[in-house]
Amino acid sequence: MSISVNQQAKVFHLQTAHSSYIFHVMANGDLGQLYFGRKIHVKDHYDNLAKRERREAMVAWGKDFDDFQPDNLKTEYAAFGRGDFRDPAYQIAAENGSRISELAYAGYHIEDGKARLSELPSAFSQPSEGVQTLTIDLADPLTGLQASLHYSVFEQEDVIVRSTTFSNLSDNKIILRRAMSAQLDLPDSRFQMISFAGSWARERQEVKNALKPGIQSVGSLRTASSHQENPFIMLARPETSEDTGDVFAFNLIYSGNFLDQVEVNHYDLTRVLIGIHPEEFAWTLDPNESFQTPEAVLSFSKQGFNQLSQQLTNFYANHLVNPRFAKQPRPILVNNWEATYFDFNEDKLLAIAKKAAELGIELFVLDDGWFGHRDDDHTSLGDWFVDKKKLPQGLPHLADAVHGLGLKFGLWFEPEMISMASELYKKHPDWLIVSPKRQPIAGRNQYVLDFTRNEIVDTVFQMMAQRIEESHLDYVKWDMNRYITDMFGSQLPADRQLEMAHRYILGVYHLYQRLIDRFPDVLFESCASGGGRFDLGMMYYAPQAWTSDNTDALSRIQIQYGTSYGYAPSMMGAHVSDVPNYQTGRITPLSTRGRVAYFGDLGYELDITKLSEKEQQEIKKQVAFYKRHRQLFQFGTFYRLQSPFAGDKNVASWEVVNADRTLAIAARYQFLNRPNPAYLRLYFMGLSPDRLYRINGSEETFFGDELEDAGYAVDQILDINQPMTASADFSAHLFIAQAVE
Ligand code: GLA
Repeated sequence: MSISVNQQAKVFHLQTAHSSYIFHVMANGDLGQLYFGRKIHVKDHYDNLAKRERREAMVAWGKDFDDFQPDNLKTEYAAFGRGDFRDPAYQIAAENGSRISELAYAGYHIEDGKARLSELPSAFSQPSEGVQTLTIDLADPLTGLQASLHYSVFEQEDVIVRSTTFSNLSDNKIILRRAMSAQLDLPDSRFQMISFAGSWARERQEVKNALKPGIQSVGSLRTASSHQENPFIMLARPETSEDTGDVFAFNLIYSGNFLDQVEVNHYDLTRVLIGIHPEEFAWTLDPNESFQTPEAVLSFSKQGFNQLSQQLTNFYANHLVNPRFAKQPRPILVNNWEATYFDFNEDKLLAIAKKAAELGIELFVLDDGWFGHRDDDHTSLGDWFVDKKKLPQGLPHLADAVHGLGLKFGLWFEPEMISMASELYKKHPDWLIVSPKRQPIAGRNQYVLDFTRNEIVDTVFQMMAQRIEESHLDYVKWDMNRYITDMFGSQLPADRQLEMAHRYILGVYHLYQRLIDRFPDVLFESCASGGGRFDLGMMYYAPQAWTSDNTDALSRIQIQYGTSYGYAPSMMGAHVSDVPNYQTGRITPLSTRGRVAYFGDLGYELDITKLSEKEQQEIKKQVAFYKRHRQLFQFGTFYRLQSPFAGDKNVASWEVVNADRTLAIAARYQFLNRPNPAYLRLYFMGLSPDRLYRINGSEETFFGDELEDAGYAVDQILDINQPMTASADFSAHLFIAQAVE
C-alpha cells in the first residue's frame, strides 16, 4: 500500500519505493505538511514533526487553537489573509470583494489508479500498476468554496503527482485569482535552486543559486513555457552530486504561462509553489462550476541528479507519453528545412528523399513552405493547402513517391498562426488575437489565431485532417513560432478576460487531442522556434520535441545536457546539420555532429545530395550504427558524467546503459584542443561491478567496478610523429563497453 492513513489522528503518509510524503490535519482543520524526503517508517502520528513553540510578535489564532500561528507552520495548500504572510497557494475574490477564505478538512478518499484529466494533459496509469490516488476534500462553509487536493502516488517511479480541483458550492460567483497546482513547504533553506534558462538557440542552460531569504522564481508570461525559462526546477543540498545526495524535482504538465516560486521566510522555511502564473490569470466560478489546475510532478532522490532524472524518465515512459509511442523506436529522419528553406520543388525534394533512402534514413519531413504561396515568412499561415506552383502534382503525389521509396512521410504545420497575407485572413480578419482598437504586434511577421474559439480550432482541424488523410502522413511537426501579445478574447466578457491565456492553451490541447483521436498512428513532434515549448504538456501529445534551432554540435552538447536533467533522451529531436553551422558559423567534424545527435532522436537537416561521396558514406555508417544501438540511445538509462557547465567548461561526457547492464556507450566531447595535455580517465557509471567488459573491442577486459571507480585511460589522440594538419578542436569519442559473454 503506497498510502497509509491514520483516521483518528488524521495523518496521511504517502510512500514511494524510496520516499515518504507526510501531512496531517491541524487543530484548525487546515492541512499541515510534515515531511517529504527519504523513506521513513509509517507511525500513528508525528507530533514531533508538527511541534511549534509559540513565538512573540506573531499573529495567533488564540487559546482555542493552542495559540495557532500560521506564519510558523508548514502547510499543504496555504490560504491568503489568515495569518500566513507567505505567498498563498490560492486566493479567491468573493462576490462582495473579500479575498479571505479558509479551507478546512472535510474528508478523503482513495482510488486505485490515476485517471486522465479530460481537458488537460495529465499523468495516467493502467490497471494493476499499483498506482493510488488520494483526494483530500477541503471546504470553506462561509464562501461555499470547495477544494479537492489530489495526490497520485507512482510508487515504482518515486513520483507524486499533485493537482487541485476547485468547486463553487455557493449561490454566488467566486473568482479564483490564483490556483497553484502544488505547494511544498520544506523545514529549512539549505538548498541550491537549479533551473534551466536561455533564449532562442541557447535553450536550457543550467543555472544554480543558493536560496536566499525572500522570493526567487522562474516563470513565463509568454503564453508558452518558453525558451527563456523552463517549468522544470530542482532543489538540491549543496553537496548533492550526480550520484549522491538529496534532491527534489518539480515540473508542471502544462505549456502556458507558469510560475515556479521558492520563498524562504523569516523562520528559514522554504515554500515551493508551482502552477499557472497568477499574473495573467483569474477564473470565474459560477454556482456549481469547477476548475481543474494542471498537474505538478514532484520527485525526490537521495542518490543525486542522475537517479532523479532516471526516475522522471521512467515516469514519463510509463505514465505521461502517449503509450502508442512511448516505448516505440523513433524513426531517423531527414528534414528539408536547412537544405532548401522555402526554395524547393518536387524534384529537389525527391532527390533528397531518394538519397535519404540510400543512406538508410527512414522518414522524410517536408518543412515550412509547402502551402499557400509561402516563399518567405510573410505569408500564407492558415492556408493549409498545397502550393501548386511548387508542387503542381499535389501533396499526395509527393507523398506516394516518398512512400514508394520505402520512407515514411511527414509534414510541417504551424496550426495556431495566421499571416495577414493569406486567404484565411481575407475571409476571417477577426480571427486573430488583438486588443480592441490597437494595431496588433507581429512576431516573425505573423499573428496568433484565437484558439479559445471552437469554430477556429475546428477549421484548422478540418484542413489538417484533410492533409493527413490524403497523404497518409506518418508524422506531423507542429511548430509555434511567436509568443502572444495583445492578449484579449473578443468572445469573452470583460470580467473573464483573465481566463484568456489558459483558455488559449486548452484550445491547443483540444486540437492535439482531436488529431490524435482521429489519427492514432501519426507521430507528432512539437516545436516552437526550436525549444520554446519543451514541456510536459506538449510531451503528453507529442512524444518528441525539436530541442533547439541551434544544431551546432558544441551548442547542442550544452543544450542537450541541460535538457537531460528534466527530460528523457527520446524526447529530444537531435539533428546533424551542415557546416559552417547556420547559427554559430562553427565548423565541427561530421563525426562529432553525429556523436552528439546520437543521444536523442537522430535526424539529418542538410542537403544530403550535395555531400561528397566520403561524407555520404560516413552518414550511411552513422545511420547503421544508430540503428544498431537505437534502443540504447533512445531508451537506455542515461547518465551525465561530466558537465559542460562546470570546471573549465571544456569537456563534457555522458553515457547510456542498457537494462541488463551488458552494454554501455559513453561519449566524451572536448571543446578546444589542449597541446601536451594532462592524462585523463573516463569514469563509467551504471555497469555491473562484477562483470567483465571490453572497451571498443579491446583485448584487455575490465571489471565494471574498475571502470567506474578506477576509470578508463583516455587516449589523447595526438601522434607526436604526425604533424597536425587539421584542427583537433571539437573532438568526440565514443567508448563502447560490451560485457564479455
Ligand atoms: C522554426 C522551426 C524550424 C523550422 C522553421 C520553419 O524556426 O524551429 O525547425 O521549422 O520554423 O519556418
